[in-house]
This record gives sequence, C-alpha cells and structure tokens, in this order.
Amino acid sequence: MRLTCISLLAAAAALASGNDADLRVPCCPATATAAFTTAIPSGDPCPATRVSLCYTGTALQLVFAAEGAGEPYFNATQGTNDDIWAYEVMEAFIHRGQDDPQQYFEYEVSPNNVTYNAFVYNPSRERKAGAPFDHAFVENPFDDGFAVNTVLDAHAETWTSVVSIPLALFNGENPKGSTWRMNFFRTITNATMFPDQKLCGWRNPGKPNFHITGAFGTVRFV
Ligand SMILES: *[C@@H]1O[C@H](CO)[C@@H](O)[C@H](O)[C@H]1NC(C)=O
Ligand SMILES: *[C@@H]1O[C@H](CO)[C@@H](O)[C@H](O)[C@H]1NC(C)=O
Ligand SMILES: *[C@@H]1O[C@H](CO)[C@@H](O)[C@H](O)[C@H]1NC(C)=O
Repeated sequence: MRLTCISLLAAAAALASGNDADLRVPCCPATATAAFTTAIPSGDPCPATRVSLCYTGTALQLVFAAEGAGEPYFNATQGTNDDIWAYEVMEAFIHRGQDDPQQYFEYEVSPNNVTYNAFVYNPSRERKAGAPFDHAFVENPFDDGFAVNTVLDAHAETWTSVVSIPLALFNGENPKGSTWRMNFFRTITNATMFPDQKLCGWRNPGKPNFHITGAFGTVRFV
C-alpha cells in the first residue's frame, strides 16, 4: 500500500509550523475550510460558500458547498471543459509553490456536475490587457484520476460537490510540509441577470478579475 499520511504526525506538524498560512490543510479525513460570504470586488454580501480541503499521499480532496443557491443556473447542454464559468460554478485556482504564479491550475464545477479543468498561462500575473493569456486543458480528467460528485438539494437551496484532484498533476504527491497558493471563487447568475454575474471569493483581488495571482492565499499542508 502506498504511504499516505499520518494524522498524529500531521497534527504535531500543524502546531510546529505553518501558522503564517491563511489555511492549514490536514491529512484526510480531517479537513480545513476556506469560507467566504463576500462579493469581489465590492465586499457586498454573497451567499455562504465553503471549500473544505484535505490530502492523501496522491490526491487533493475538496468539498465545495454553496448555500443560498435558489434554483442554481447552469446550461444543461454543456460538457467537460465547456464554458461553464459563464453560468454558476464554484472554482479553485491552485499552484504548488509560494510565489505569485504565472501558471496555475483552474478547476471549476457546475451544479450539473460538469467540470472545467485547465492550466492557465498568465505571465502578467493579472490577465493584463494586451498580455498573453492562454489555457491548456486536461482533456480526460476522469481517466487521469479526477473524481467529482455533485448533489443539488432543491429544498435546502444548496449544492455540494465532492472532488478529488490527483497531486501528480502538480508534481505534488505527499504534500505534507509544503506551501501552495490558492484562491476559491463562486459565480452567481440567473435567467434575468445572465450574462451578468455576481462574483464571490475567498481572497479579494480588488477587481472583478479572478486572475490576479498576488491575491491568492497561502495554503500549507500540515
Ligand atoms: C448552452 O451551451 C451550449 C454549448 O456550449 C451553447 O451552444 C448554447 O448556446 C448555450 N445555451 C444558452 C441558453 O446559453
Ligand atoms: C458526476 O460526474 C462524474 C464524472 O462523470 C461521475 O463519476 C459521477 O457519478 C457524477 N455524479 C453525479 C451525482 O452525477
Ligand atoms: C436574479 O437575481 C437578481 C439579483 O439578485 C434578482 O433581482 C432577480 O429577481 C433574480 N431573478 C430570478 C429569475 O431569480
């Protein structure tokens, strides 16, 4: 059996280091949660969103939970790597390393259990007008070891996605002790608003632009 991680040691490491991180992510089944309730960039209220994370030796596990979702708005004809970001999604931007990245992974999931999986090339670190900005898709995420399961609860007006992303994607297996950069977002729209969206997020970039990498939070695996 592959060595995964050892909870007791992980707890000791959490006490010893990583106190400067915005989020300290433990070995599964314990989790750490990034929660947010504000819009980008205004700071106006957003319905509560939570992203709970943990790791094994080979995977990053994320549980995305959207509250106050009303009747989630998505396009049922879309499939993997389509422009689901134009509708309602929850998102994680992920980079292994401590720098403000110029290349990172963008993961999105829709209330319809459809995902978007792309490496972003953003050399200006802010999607500057006129600067290069590109995507390289992960074409077969489910063959590659990704997993997702999305449950809509119409009565509670919530939707929840349980996600697993292979750490090999980042050359990042056995991440204990490493510090990464991440941000988490949620887009909100409906039939009346579309194509306008309300943007909500964990670390506010100060502009209606998710691709400002200096705003990404620091995430330490403990
Ligand atoms: C839904 O997505 C499909 C495929 O991307 C697109 O052709 C269609 O125009 C979209 N429908 C609406 C109502 O936006
Ligand atoms: C979500 O999609 C994944 C990948 O296709 C599939 O394995 C899973 O069963 C789906 N879950 C639901 C609840 O539809
Ligand atoms: C869409 O959202 C706007 C802004 O929150 C709201 O005023 C409107 O009633 C909503 N429309 C629908 C169809 O839910």
